[in-house]
Amino acid sequence: MKRALITGITGQDGSYLTELLLAKGYTIYGIVRRSSSLTRTRLEHIYGARHFEREKLYLEYGDMTDGSSLRTIITRVAPDEIYNLAAQSHVRVSFDTPEYTVDVADVGTLRLLEAARDYQKQAGKTVRYYQASSSEMFGSTPPPQSETTPFHPRSPYAIAKVAGYWHTVNYREAYGMHCSNGILFNHESERRGENFVTRKITLAAGRIKVGLQKELYLGNLDAKRDWGYAKDYVEAMWLMLQEDKPDDYVVATGESRSIREFLDASFGLLGLNWQDYVKIDQFYMRPSEVDFLLGNATKAQEKLGWRPKVSFSEMVKIMTEYDLDLAERELHAKKFSRS
Ligand code: NAP
Ligand code: GDD
Repeated sequence: MKRALITGITGQDGSYLTELLLAKGYTIYGIVRRSSSLTRTRLEHIYGARHFEREKLYLEYGDMTDGSSLRTIITRVAPDEIYNLAAQSHVRVSFDTPEYTVDVADVGTLRLLEAARDYQKQAGKTVRYYQASSSEMFGSTPPPQSETTPFHPRSPYAIAKVAGYWHTVNYREAYGMHCSNGILFNHESERRGENFVTRKITLAAGRIKVGLQKELYLGNLDAKRDWGYAKDYVEAMWLMLQEDKPDDYVVATGESRSIREFLDASFGLLGLNWQDYVKIDQFYMRPSEVDFLLGNATKAQEKLGWRPKVSFSEMVKIMTEYDLDLAERELHAKKFSRS
């Protein structure tokens, strides 16, 4: 049975990838960093459970800023596949913490690749490596964006991801390692972090609907994104590592919509007019913005046979209904605590 090592296992994609690989019979080792409160809510249904899957998921303390921890874990775990999903992944926050963002996503990637290379040499076995690259790397280059589109990154986060992309290509070319980049366009879900725009909108729509919130503060509503469903996207990661030859792939839906269109879709489902609630706050504007992302995933479709299964409107419905349910439960808990 295969063994996979996942960095960023506690994040949105890490949790879906864990479910996918467990279903395929993998044993999984996830790297978690120390924090003052546990950040494992997305894994609780697996890690907290006393059933078969619990036996095949192990969490190891480590950090992308600590090369010695990465080396120790790789040697102990002896993985067949490594999925590098860890990052300070919030673009606006990367302007506030540029050095840390680069340390995790750029130098951290290099640390992990070096540890994997050393392990390969010592163990004499091939490790397959997946790098979570991003459509943010295209930045201001006009759409549609594909594997051959030049990068023009517009944030410390995107610059760190460009470096991580090239480290990955370089380990493939210099050392013949099986290293692949997934250039994933935005993908969302009911497990999306609460300060990314889609989840911020669906959470607010639910809370406004039940009367728990009156306003929603946002930044630039004109930016356009190619939004897909996260569960579909982790499948593309796995498919890349099953190929005989490592390569780089764009993963996207081929459709792009503005923040206004996302607002229309989510608030509209709950019979609300978003214009009555949304206010603009300069705080959420970025020093330099990425205006228009639209991916061309022809290569992933043709070589990997990958296609998105969940449409934009289905995804908005899943997220909006999930967050309405959360809001209703919050309201119920408040009423109950007063009675
Ligand atoms: P996410 O929810 O923000 O998860 C990020 C993960 O990285 C979390 O598990 C986090 O741990 C971990 N992490 C952060 N700093 C770390 C450090 N210093 N050491 C070890 N782990 C650390 O991100 P996501 O949406 O799942 O995305 C997964 C990856 O794909 C990221 O690299 C992201 O940049 C990239 N990506 C995402 C998208 C997208 O639309 N979602 C698109 C393209 C690329 P904590 O839980 O402790 O914070
Ligand atoms: N987060 C946020 N909060 N974004 C806002 C807001 C707000 O209040 N108001 C408007 N936006 C706009 C941002 O300016 C941006 O143009 C767009 O909404 C999307 O922002 P995010 O949801 O934060 O995602 P992102 O596109 O910047 O980055 C995500 O996708 C990348 C792939 O393209 C992240 O997941 C990155 O880690 C990922 O690489």
